[in-house]
Amino acid sequence: MSEKWRFPRAESLPTYAFVAMDAVKKRVSSSGVDLIDLGLGNPDRPTPSPIVQRLHEAADVGNNHRYHPGRGLLALRQGICSWYQRRYGTAFDPEREAIVTMGAKEGISHLCLAILERGDVAVVPDPCYPIHQGAPLIAGASAVGYAVREGLAPAQAVSDAIARAARDGGRAKLVIANYPHNPTGQVISQQALGELVRMVRDSGAMLLHDAAYADLDFERRHAPSIFDCGLPAEEVKQFAVEVFSMSKSYNMAGWRIAFMVGNERMVAALAHLKTYMDYGTFMPIQHAAAWALDNGDGLVDEIRALYQTRASALVAGLSAAGWGQVPEPSGTMFVWAKLPDKLAALSAVEAATRLVEEAHVALAPGTGFGPEGEGYLRFALIEDPPRIDEACGRLRRFLSA
Ligand SMILES: Cc1ncc(COP(=O)(O)O)c(C=O)c1O
Repeated sequence: MSEKWRFPRAESLPTYAFVAMDAVKKRVSSSGVDLIDLGLGNPDRPTPSPIVQRLHEAADVGNNHRYHPGRGLLALRQGICSWYQRRYGTAFDPEREAIVTMGAKEGISHLCLAILERGDVAVVPDPCYPIHQGAPLIAGASAVGYAVREGLAPAQAVSDAIARAARDGGRAKLVIANYPHNPTGQVISQQALGELVRMVRDSGAMLLHDAAYADLDFERRHAPSIFDCGLPAEEVKQFAVEVFSMSKSYNMAGWRIAFMVGNERMVAALAHLKTYMDYGTFMPIQHAAAWALDNGDGLVDEIRALYQTRASALVAGLSAAGWGQVPEPSGTMFVWAKLPDKLAALSAVEAATRLVEEAHVALAPGTGFGPEGEGYLRFALIEDPPRIDEACGRLRRFLSA
């Protein structure tokens, strides 16, 4: 093919956070090394068997093998609305205000494609889960980052970014937020979330809140929702949507199922785009997800406890390894750690590369999540304590060598 053809959309996207480390990991693993890979936040445990059982049952029904156009199985959308009602005391109309997506990533990307265009400005967290920056870029909009940092009030950080965009001649059309936050593991209080939501409302922008880790708030169990943060939910529905994923709460990452609720026009725009793009998630998966939302609270409690135990084990192990001060996360499945003194002069990518090559431990470099991630590495809590201890032992030997 002629080299003259440019692929501007693909070429404008930076290399995906986790792909950047693949070559070095492959090189080290192919030499026979047993690499401990704590890079990608890919849940290691299987989906709880009662959920898998529902999938089997629904897969045996031939009618479930057909296309299923629309916003997702009505029974699942009703289950989503009951889940919100039970948990956050908020009512949604399953016909107009809820949509099933093929994972949160798909929902976020296609929502941005549906509502943003060239010249629009989205205000996104920095560091962030990469699609929060990538989705506006894919849609042709620009992304202005706001820092997510301990001690910095989220509403203030967003307000500063909106002001910065305005100084550059842009008006923020969409704000993306994500609490509990990947990659830093920070959670947000109901009050701070309320301040953030008010601030976005007053700015005139729309809000997309990614609540993928809503079940992984270690202290509160359930993190606050934008629809239960001190403002009337009906008011928040005027300009905001929230996305929740089945991937982390139920170890269903490979199943590709999530949902979005909130503003009717935003939901309708996503639904409209998706009529062209897909026919939704395989129906047996939707049946299993509906069962999980109705019956799975106990399963989620076990998963939350697992990540909290692993986080404590890792933080204690890093301290014993001489890594330096690493705060224990308040939620999610990640530990966000400043580079240890021995690596402090390196970039995050250089440090992560050295740890793969010399300690045989793979981590995600902070800059894969945005410029604010420079100087940090992210550990994904996807191994049990014996393996976490082994990783910390390797890091101790590396740091003391
Ligand atoms: C903040 C955040 N949102 C969404 C996702 C992905 O969700 P899904 O598997 O539903 O696409 C992740 C996965 O790591 C995440 O960290």
